[in-house]
Formats: sequence, structure tokens, C-alpha cells
Amino acid sequence: MSFDDAIKALSDNALRHVKDHSIIGLGSGRAAAALARSLSRLIKVRDLHIVGIPTSLQIKLVAEEAGIPLGEADHVDHVDVVFDGADQIDSEKFVIKGGGGALLRESILFSSARKVIVMADKTKFVKKFSRAVPVEIHPLARSSVASNITKLGGDAKIRMSDRGYPFFTENGNIILDCDFGTIKNPKALSQKIKQISGVLESGIFLRKPDIIYRAKTSGRFDVL
Ligand code: A5P
Repeated sequence: MSFDDAIKALSDNALRHVKDHSIIGLGSGRAAAALARSLSRLIKVRDLHIVGIPTSLQIKLVAEEAGIPLGEADHVDHVDVVFDGADQIDSEKFVIKGGGGALLRESILFSSARKVIVMADKTKFVKKFSRAVPVEIHPLARSSVASNITKLGGDAKIRMSDRGYPFFTENGNIILDCDFGTIKNPKALSQKIKQISGVLESGIFLRKPDIIYRAKTSGRFDVL
């Protein structure tokens, strides 16, 4: 059994939270893609009437290929359940998102979701956050936001593509990956980041997941 087996097994389990005639938020990344493929099978077997709301072109393509009916976030005032991965999860169950650059749309769905379910492998779980925090910003604000991040004790670097070009989000913005070392108070830090003019979203989400699935390399998983 591999990690991928665990992600698939937990995806099937997580789908217990999907009811007929519901609006499902589809996060981005590998775990979200595994979930979308499992959801597609469930829709066919049970003849469910589901609308999926994608958070990125990546998951939209996966969902289209899997035949999941799709809608757009601006057409719905809530989602019933959102399923997503995470880049890091701390002992207070805060999550860092945005490793793939989809944090703004993911955050919009988290905040309008009746239930948030996060799925991640065990390497993502830490006592205190230690990885850089992705922060989506308007390109014109790059210098002023970077200066404000420094004042908060962070070191901001513009995310670049492998070929050395700046990374642009699907919203036409750029991302600063902000290294704060070990983060003692994620909630306070995220609130301060979000107050900086030009910041569209902080990768430390203030909405915590309701359910967290932790995949193990043995192919098993825990539910937290
Ligand atoms: C997208 O911006 C991210 O928040 C992803 O959801 C996160 O990186 C998890 O991706 P994996 O499931 O591929 O690890």
C-alpha cells in the first residue's frame, strides 16, 4: 500500500459527507484531484445531482475529464462541503495553503463552506508552522507589501517559475512566499498580513477545517 492508495482510500471515506443535490467545493492539488476522481465514480454509481465549484484550472480540468457537472464560485452564495489539500497543518488545526497558487479561490470557498474537509499526508503535520506563508498580492504592491512583511518579522520572496519568470496566479496577481521562521501565533499573524494594503489573501487561513484526514505511507489514514 502506498501513499496514493491512502489518499484514494480516504477520498472514498470522505465522500460520506456528500449528499444528493449539494454544492461541492473542489480544492486544488493532488489530494483534491484524487477526491474529484472518487466523487465522479460516486456520482455515477448513485446517480447524484451535484455541482462542483473548482478553485483552479488544474482541478477544473480534472473534474471536466471525470465528468463532474461544474459551476462558478460567483454563482453560489455557499458550498455545502469543500474538499482540499494543505501545505502544512499545525497542532491547533490551522492550515497553510497556496503552495499551488490557488489560495484566493480556495479561501473564498472555505469561508462560504458549511463543512471544510482537508486531506493531507503525514509529512504536512507540524506542531508549529515552519514553512513560508504564501501571500497573494497585487503586482503594484510588491515593494510596499514586502516592506510591511519585513516589519512583521518576515522575509518575502516573489515566487518564480522554474524558468525564472514571476509566477502569476489565475487572478493576475503575484505571490510573495514569506518566511517567518517558526510561527507562534498564526491567527494574529494572518490578521496582520491581511490588513496590509495590496494583500488579496494570506496562506494562513482563518477558517479551520471541520474534519482533517491524515494519510500514512502504509496506505492507511486517521480522521482528526
Ligand atoms: C493549492 O494552492 C494548495 O493550497 C494545495 O491545495 C496544497 O498545495 C496541497 O496540494 P497537494 O494535495 O498536492 O499536496
